[in-house]
Amino acid sequence: MPPRFCAGAPRLALLVSFACAVLLIAPCQCVNEQGQALLAWRRSLRPTGGALESWKATDGSPCRWFGVSCDARGNVVGLSVTGVDLQGPLPANLQPLASSLTTLVLSGTNLTGAIPPEIGGYGALATLDLSKNQLTGAIPPELCRLAKLETLALNSNSLRGAIPDDIGDLASLTHLTLFDNELSSTIPGSIGRLKKLQVLRAGGNQALKGPLPKEIGGCADLTMLGLAETGMSGSLPETIGQLKKIQTIAIYTTLLSGSIPESIGNCTELTSIYLYQNSLSGSIPASIGRLRKLQSLLLWQNQLVGAIPPELGQCEELTLIDLSLNSLTGSIPATFGQLPNLQQLQLSTNRLTGTIPQELSNCTSLTDIEVDNNALSGDIRVDFPKLRNLTLFYAWKNSLTGGVPANLAECASLQSVDLSYNNLTGPIPKELFALQNLTKLLLLSNELSGVVPPDIGNCTNLYRFRLNDNRLSGTIPAEIGNLKNLNFLDMSGNHLVGPVPAAIADCGSL
Ligand SMILES: *[C@@H]1O[C@H](CO)[C@@H](O)[C@H](O)[C@H]1NC(C)=O
Ligand SMILES: *[C@@H]1O[C@H](CO)[C@@H](O)[C@H](O)[C@H]1NC(C)=O
Ligand SMILES: *[C@@H]1O[C@H](CO)[C@@H](O)[C@H](O)[C@H]1NC(C)=O
Ligand SMILES: *[C@@H]1O[C@H](CO)[C@@H](O)[C@H](O)[C@H]1NC(C)=O
Ligand SMILES: *[C@@H]1O[C@H](CO)[C@@H](O)[C@H](O)[C@H]1NC(C)=O
Ligand SMILES: *[C@@H]1O[C@H](CO)[C@@H](O)[C@H](O)[C@H]1NC(C)=O
Ligand SMILES: *[C@@H]1O[C@H](CO)[C@@H](O)[C@H](O)[C@H]1NC(C)=O
Repeated sequence: MPPRFCAGAPRLALLVSFACAVLLIAPCQCVNEQGQALLAWRRSLRPTGGALESWKATDGSPCRWFGVSCDARGNVVGLSVTGVDLQGPLPANLQPLASSLTTLVLSGTNLTGAIPPEIGGYGALATLDLSKNQLTGAIPPELCRLAKLETLALNSNSLRGAIPDDIGDLASLTHLTLFDNELSSTIPGSIGRLKKLQVLRAGGNQALKGPLPKEIGGCADLTMLGLAETGMSGSLPETIGQLKKIQTIAIYTTLLSGSIPESIGNCTELTSIYLYQNSLSGSIPASIGRLRKLQSLLLWQNQLVGAIPPELGQCEELTLIDLSLNSLTGSIPATFGQLPNLQQLQLSTNRLTGTIPQELSNCTSLTDIEVDNNALSGDIRVDFPKLRNLTLFYAWKNSLTGGVPANLAECASLQSVDLSYNNLTGPIPKELFALQNLTKLLLLSNELSGVVPPDIGNCTNLYRFRLNDNRLSGTIPAEIGNLKNLNFLDMSGNHLVGPVPAAIADCGSL
């Protein structure tokens, strides 16, 4: 029997070999071939914190080593090391494990260098997770030979180059996460051959460009499509309507243009549509009203025109609507009153007309109403006492008339109110100053009259307070001195008389 040397422990190996060869009483304890391949890799690393200390050349097999798992016959089936500092390259030669290894997870381990093409030869791999390292170079096309691969996670590295054209060959793939790299080129049409794909996340690759290929419609099992913060352009293909299981579409902060396809209404499992910060044009398709599970509709900062479809009132699960920074016209649909879960309604900076619908009083979950910078008119007739959780109400820069609603004072959580640049008349309701959490009250550039109520001294958390350019009269109440947090105060452009109260010196934060 030729002597075997235990790698990494030569002296002990000599002794053991001696025992094997001469005394023939103890079996040789040198690690097997699979273990030797792993040890060869470990020698290329500079692990800190003793992560791989349990990897010993004198063990007969690597099955009890940290991160290693074996099947009943002692073959290594898994190597899974996460969140420790390995400092080195990926294993290029695990040939002895090639036919048994099903799981290779080396995530968050500070590995550097390129992905060795040899990994494409580990034909049993079902999970390959090399995410959160500092890997560079391209994704080797050889990886596309892994017919049993279900999860390919390469996200959060510094990978460059294209997504391989043959990605569609990975017939078993369910999860593909490539986000936060430096990938470029386009998404190959072959992606549509991934019939089992559930999650596709490739966002955060700034140089990834071109349109979403129409073949995406072939990914019938897709639940998550994430391509945000890329250079994706072109329009969304009509075929997204074939994604019957899709729950989240996150393609925000890209260069998408064209209109939102009507077929999106066929994606009835959708809960989240994040298409903000694009160049989408056309109108919001009424078919979105068919999405009964929709919770978030974020379409802000696009070039959308036309009216907000009243059909949105059928999406009863909606909690968040943000259509700000578009060119929407028409009125705020009264059907929003059918949305009991709506928490945030953000319609700022559009060209909306008509009144703030009274029906919003029905949306008792509302915390934020932002309808500023539109052309809304009429009196504010919302039944605010029903909106117990309202914290923010912005309606500045419209053409609203009537009084500042005194019943806002019953929204005890209210923090910020901005009704500036409207045509509001009448007095400042003193009741508002009972709101203990109110920090921002901006009523500038209206037609408000009457006096500044001395009750202002009760609103001790007030931080920003502006009443300038109204028709207020009387004197400035000395109670203002109670507002220790007041940072900004402007009352100019009114008909106020008398001295500035000396107590104002007590506003230490002014
Ligand atoms: C990776 O390296 C960085 C910088 O040396 C270090 O801060 C970090 O903790 C390392 N990661 C792990 C998982 O040890
Ligand atoms: C989607 O819905 C439209 C009606 O809005 C229908 O005509 C079309 O056939 C559907 N498409 C798919 C792909 O299911
Ligand atoms: C208010 O809500 C109730 C119950 O959710 C609903 O039946 C009613 O139609 C809503 N009213 C309006 C004006 O939307
Ligand atoms: C108001 O907020 C509280 C606390 O966040 C929450 O428990 C409650 O359900 C909210 N009320 C409504 C009507 O949404
Ligand atoms: C306020 O009303 C006047 C006259 O009714 C009108 O000229 C002005 O444009 C209105 N201002 C705003 C901000 O709507
Ligand atoms: C006011 O703010 C405090 C501190 O943030 C918070 O604990 C409290 O719940 C708020 N009050 C109301 C009525 O929302
Ligand atoms: C402000 O406090 C004074 C003194 O406690 C009280 O009489 C007045 O009603 C309060 N004003 C409001 C609007 O709560």
